[in-house]
Parts: sequence; C-alpha cells; structure tokens
Amino acid sequence: MAEEHAEKSSRLPGFYKLSLDERIDRMSEFISLTPEEIYQLKREALPLGTAEQMIENVVGVFGLPLGIAANFRINGRDYLVPMAVEESSVVAAASHLAKAVREHGELTAESDDPIMIGQIQVCGAADPEEARRKILDAKARILDLANEQDPVLREIGGGARDVEARILQTPRGPMVVVHLLVDVRDAMGANAVNTMAETLALFVEGLTGGKVVLRILSNLADRRLVRVGLRVAPRAFDARDYRGEDVVEGVLNAYAFAAADPYRAATHNKGVMNGIDPVIIATGNDWRAIEAGAHAYAARDGQYKPLTTWNRDDQGNLVGRLELPMAVGLIGGATKVHPMAGLALKILGVKTAAELAEVAATVGLVQNLAAMRSLVTEGIQKGHMILHARNVAVSAGAAGETIGHVANQMIREGKIRFDRAKQILRHVLKNAERRIHGEAQDTNGE
Ligand code: MEV
Repeated sequence: MAEEHAEKSSRLPGFYKLSLDERIDRMSEFISLTPEEIYQLKREALPLGTAEQMIENVVGVFGLPLGIAANFRINGRDYLVPMAVEESSVVAAASHLAKAVREHGELTAESDDPIMIGQIQVCGAADPEEARRKILDAKARILDLANEQDPVLREIGGGARDVEARILQTPRGPMVVVHLLVDVRDAMGANAVNTMAETLALFVEGLTGGKVVLRILSNLADRRLVRVGLRVAPRAFDARDYRGEDVVEGVLNAYAFAAADPYRAATHNKGVMNGIDPVIIATGNDWRAIEAGAHAYAARDGQYKPLTTWNRDDQGNLVGRLELPMAVGLIGGATKVHPMAGLALKILGVKTAAELAEVAATVGLVQNLAAMRSLVTEGIQKGHMILHARNVAVSAGAAGETIGHVANQMIREGKIRFDRAKQILRHVLKNAERRIHGEAQDTNGE
C-alpha cells in the first residue's frame, strides 16, 4: 500500500468541481478502492449493528462529512488526507494552503518514540521522600511486573521503559506520584498503560506504606511529541489584491498577538485544531485525548501560549513550527472497529502511528497558516459565506433548489441571517405557488 501511495501525486486539480461519484473515481486513481469500500463511502459509513457494539444505549448513528484534503507533501511524500468535520472551509483552506507550500516551500515532520505516561497516585505515605526513594530503588521489579501484563507489546518492541517518582504538595497533604513510561508502539496506549498502572497498585502500596488512589494514563503525553515545520516563500501569497510580503508581515503580527495574549492564543490554537481534529476523528482516534494534551502543552510554562511559532528566515521565507503531544494509534479502539476509520487509514496510507501523528500535526500547522492568511487579508467571512449561507437556508427550511435561491439572495444582500432566510424562503415559495397556480389557470384556460 505504501508503495502505491509513494508513486502518486496528491495534486487533484479541480477536485472540488467534480461530482461525488467523480471524486471517488479520481481518488481511486490514487488508492484503489473495493466496491465494498465505495459502497461504504456512499451509503453506510457505520452499520447500526457495529455502532451498538461500540457504546451503550445506542439509538442511531451520527454522520459527519468526510472530505479529502489534497496537495499534501510531507517529508517528500504525497498524502491524500481524509478529514471528518462539520465546519465549512476547513478542507478547502487546508488543500489550498498545502498547494501553495508545495509549490513555494516544504513541509517536514518528525516524532518521538511513542512513550505514554501512566500515573499512580499514592496518598498518606508517612515519609514521602523515603517512599519516593523506595520506588526508584525498585525500578527493575516495577518494570518487570508491568511488562508481564503485556507480553505481546514486548514482542513487537514496546513495553514499560522507565519509572519516575514525584512528590506533590496538595491541600490534602503531600502525595507521591509514580510515572510509568511505556512504549506503546502503534497503539494510542490507554488500555496497555491503564492495565499496567492498575496491576502495580498493590506492589506500590507495599513499597510505600501509602494508599494508591488513581491509576490512569496522563493525556499530557509530553514524551510523545511530534514536531512539524513549514517553510514558504512570500510570493506564494501574491494575489490580485495583496502582496505576498504584506501577507507575511500580517501573519507575523497575528502570531505576535497570539504569543502575547491568551484570549487570542485560544482562537489561534482552535485554528490549529481545526486541522488536527478532523484527521483524528476520520481515523477513529480519541480527539478528546488529543485536545486535552494540546491545551495542557500550550500552558506548560504557566501561561497559555500558541502551539505554533512563526518567523522569517535569512532568505525572507515564512517559517512555521508546531510541537505538541500526539497520542494516536493504528490499532485498538475505534480505529479497528469503525469501518470508516479503516478506510480513512487506507486512503492516508500511513504505516505507523508516528507517521499518522506527523500527518495530523502537519495539517494543523497548515490550517493555522491558512486561517491567519485569511484573517490578515479578506477576513474569514468571505470564504465561509457561500456554505454558511446554504446552511442557514437549510436551517430556515429550504430544500432542493430553493437552498440556492435563498443563499444567493442573502449573499447579494450581504445579510446571512436566519430571520432573513425565512423571509426570502416565504417569498420564493409564494412565487413558486403563484407560478404553479398561474400555470394551472393557463392550462385550464386552454
Ligand atoms: C475558525 O474556526 C478558526 C479561526 O478563528 C482561527 C483563527 O482565528 O486563527 C479562523
């Protein structure tokens, strides 16, 4: 599968203009799809029977659009990126910016080993310092006990690697917190780590004389970071109404704003997650874990900061970097159970969880730049307008051809509002009724 992707280009000119069937055909040139997979894309993303196995009290299935971001070339390799997202403009913005970078720069990515942290909380140890020392002295035994829980993980090169111990001062007294560092290979790792942490509880209580309370992984997966880089020449942003150099200046000002102000940093990072979450969701991964890790990492210095940094290099290129924890897997959980997750991973063609992490983070960096480019030029509303207007028209009750009528009228007026959509719809429907009535009279008159 990897070789199949390696030879193909993710440039898909005019993809957005094709019909859905044509898009699927075009995508099949990049990655061959079976008739079942095509059926899945068009008809049955998640069978009810499967949904019932996934969570409790199921009463239905919730759908999200799955789009393909084109043009991504990361570390010299082309990817078509599946994105599951409800927000208009996200997929288009990612594809558009990835094209500009592809033509005038580059995208690079690298990641740490997939090390997750399991936390074991020990309360009430009489001498926390002594407890901490005993834990560290017993490191080899703790690692053996942990690894006995998961021989398969050991066989594939993963397993518990290290033990750390910290003392926390809390309003309920000092606590000793054990960190078990586990290489989870291509899993997200929650199950493996939580099982190990739970198993160790009794042994840790025996060592410390304290009471073990929580035994759970940390979503601040800061031993499993991914780092991505983007370099692009300012001319990539030259347009009829803007000079690329001015766009770069605007982006640097936007970044400085985010770096100085948590109110702006939160929105800046929301733009980053606009790129990451849809890839995480499409591939059946735990997007709450990714969000929790990202925002905790953004606040690691005590002030909430932008996850990306933006600068200019000596040649005048715009250079962006993104570093964040990325606990994703290719095995286990919904990645294997949800049929669309399997298909999304096939389309993406990643071979390891690390590669998936690198792609997802790269989309985040590209999306962040796409948002800033819009914000420092025409603003984001223009791009959002058409799809937003259509959504407002639908929510006001428009269907079929009337959606276009209502949406276009609102765009012409520059007023995209629910109340206005309702008025226009009433008008359109009244006119249609009159026409039918008139035609009926004409026919009767014949
Ligand atoms: C909207 O979903 C995301 C943006 O607000 C991000 C940003 O402001 O950088 C456009």
